[in-house]
Amino acid sequence: MTTVLVTGGAGFIGSNYVRHLLETEPGAKVVVIDKLTYAGNLANLRDLPSGQAGRLSFHKVDVADAPAVAEVFSRFQPRSVVHFAAESHVDRSIHEPQVFLKTNVVGTQVLLDACRESWKVSDGWQEGTVFLQVSTDEVYGTLGPEGRFTEDTPLAPRSPYSASKAAADMLVMAYHNTYGLPVAVTRCSNNYGPYQFPEKLIPLMIRNALNHEPLPVYGDGRQVRDWLHVEDHCRALELVRRRARPGSVYNIGGGTEMENIELVKLLVAKLREVVADTAVDEGLIRHVTDRPGHDRRYAIDASRIGDELGWRPQVAFADGLERTIRWYIEHTDWLESIISGEYMDFYEKNYRDLAPGRAG
Ligand code: NAD
Ligand code: DAU
Repeated sequence: MTTVLVTGGAGFIGSNYVRHLLETEPGAKVVVIDKLTYAGNLANLRDLPSGQAGRLSFHKVDVADAPAVAEVFSRFQPRSVVHFAAESHVDRSIHEPQVFLKTNVVGTQVLLDACRESWKVSDGWQEGTVFLQVSTDEVYGTLGPEGRFTEDTPLAPRSPYSASKAAADMLVMAYHNTYGLPVAVTRCSNNYGPYQFPEKLIPLMIRNALNHEPLPVYGDGRQVRDWLHVEDHCRALELVRRRARPGSVYNIGGGTEMENIELVKLLVAKLREVVADTAVDEGLIRHVTDRPGHDRRYAIDASRIGDELGWRPQVAFADGLERTIRWYIEHTDWLESIISGEYMDFYEKNYRDLAPGRAG
């Protein structure tokens, strides 16, 4: 059995990936480490089929804590590391950048050093080892109305979050160039799907609309994001983990570009139809103060991963969105239970008017 270490496996994409891995790789043992910040929840890993749950172990570990990470490596001897753990929300990075540097940059360096220590053999690296850095299209900065990011687009991050991810990506490549560590980097566009924390656009809008609360659209709402269902992202990550050339970078994106305001209106219409509630209405939309430094447009050219690894998105956006809406409607208990005091404190301090249950 191969052992895969998944960092941040109690978060949105990490928990979806853990499910995907357990289901598609019956020969894999999965070790999750996660600090369980406000964004990480063990509830995201519950209800696994019993045959799969036995292959999963969870450890509450901060990736920036080198002795704790070293202990995990010596105990479990993972051959792959899939590194999701991060502070991931742009708005939070604007108010509290320090923790983004600590987790996203120092945490990545700690993991890379643990890999070096654990995987080194006299003439290179243990067979089949790989460190997969799960990164973001935001490291490329912002686009005008035309063009798409390729893997050769220069890094030009513009928020503390994306700067910390770009720094981590560069460290990963530096460990490959300097020590030859077998690594791969993926840069994905905006994900949506089940288990996403309701600070992010789609689950936040679903939650607010279900509660007949205002839907805060930043600025003019004409910023463009390129949406991908989380299952498609997980499939791409598995292909990269198993087949990527050491030192390679892959962009991942759904090719579904949409303005935020258009997406919010679509969500409202779909939700209104599904719950048959006329109070779920576009009248709930409020244009609020824009995010400082708000990136205008992201769009991904994912041809490399298509050509080299045969990946294509399989979930059509209309279908993925409807499934996602239905999932949140069926999981309102989950939605409310993960809204912690820590999360509310941040909104009280920085976005009083937009806090859940308070926007008006
Ligand atoms: P998330 O915020 O939902 O989950 C992050 C997880 O990391 C949480 O479980 C949290 O507890 C954990 N974590 C945070 N700090 C930690 C630390 N110091 N030590 C250990 N665990 C820690 O994030 P997500 O949306 O699932 O994103 C996962 C990764 O994918 C991130 O690296 C993000 O940059 C990247 N990414 C996200 C998207 C997206 O659309 N959400 C797109 C592209 C890339
Ligand atoms: O592109 C990949 C990135 O996508 C990931 O690296 C990040 O981890 C992830 O959070 C996401 O970043 P965004 O900033 O694009 O996602 P968010 O859901 O916060 O916002 C999506 C868009 O919607 C963005 O243009 C800001 C806008 N927005 C967001 C919120 C939360 C609003 O208009 N209103 C809101 O209340």
